[in-house]
Amino acid sequence: MNLWIEKIQNTKTLEDLESVRVEILGKKGVLTIEFAKMKDIPNEEKKSFAENLNKQKEAITDAIEEKKLELEKESLNKKLESEKIDVTKFNKELSCGAVHPVSETMNRIITYFQNLNFAVEEGPLVEDDFHNFEALNLPKYHPARDMADTFYNKDYTLLRTHTSPVQIRTMLSQKSPIRMIAPGTVFRRDFDITHTPMFHQIEALVVDEADKISFANLKHVLVEFLQHMFGEVEVRFRPSYFPFTEPSAEVDISCVFCKGNGCRVCSQTGWLEVLGCGIVDQNVFDAVGYKNKSGYAFGLGIERFAMLIHSIGDLRSLFESDTRLLGQFK
Ligand code: PHE
Repeated sequence: MNLWIEKIQNTKTLEDLESVRVEILGKKGVLTIEFAKMKDIPNEEKKSFAENLNKQKEAITDAIEEKKLELEKESLNKKLESEKIDVTKFNKELSCGAVHPVSETMNRIITYFQNLNFAVEEGPLVEDDFHNFEALNLPKYHPARDMADTFYNKDYTLLRTHTSPVQIRTMLSQKSPIRMIAPGTVFRRDFDITHTPMFHQIEALVVDEADKISFANLKHVLVEFLQHMFGEVEVRFRPSYFPFTEPSAEVDISCVFCKGNGCRVCSQTGWLEVLGCGIVDQNVFDAVGYKNKSGYAFGLGIERFAMLIHSIGDLRSLFESDTRLLGQFK
């Protein structure tokens, strides 16, 4: 019997062990044959014969079980070893993400104004009529409301069409002086090569005592800012209209992209419109209860800046998650 136990202990694989088990305990196994001899044994010897065989069977079964556990453990360890992943190994195929050009442009603008001591303010994307229109000098039925193609919700809330409501929220919750920017997502019902229903703006608002803030201050800040973003461009202020600023202006930069010769980006004029601005309208101060204040504000579309900086032709491509475009920004 010891020979059999030794044989069991010497097996190297689970398959080997199984064939040894069959050799001993299988239908034609040595021990099975021994058990079969039982019927020819005289009655008085049957008991001790059976006891002996059962003892052998038990010892063998135990030995098989023990060996089986050992071999299983061994094979598991081998498997774990072979499947080990070295996460520190260098892989030149490894692809990692990149900051989206819109985020990158937004961060660059935020950092610029933070360095000028502007605070960063935020407001909700789902706004009400008061903050998005009314307090910004856009009473109900005012024709200028058509300027914004608004998404309305069933409960009379709306998706903010610009970041200007953050001006109102900030003035309602803070005292003058104010020096803030409000970066964020805005929504309009519009979709073509230069418009997507969701896009991003940065708003700025500076408020101080009456007569302290002038158009000259606004102009200086914007010229410095635009030259920081686009290089040595010329900056032009064109009279315009926004209900919440008076006077208002739209700001153009000279077309650095085709040096004034007229190109796809710059149109015939050689100028590119990049933002809207103005001196805060007194009606806005009235709506938030500010007395004897002066201020300036401006707002710009971040996608437009990103498109100009990176020469991207179609605004919609920024939101298609196409890695052929995004991969270029690693
Ligand atoms: N809210 C304006 C827009 O969305 C931009 C703007 C902001 C203009 C602040 C003037 C002052 O077009």
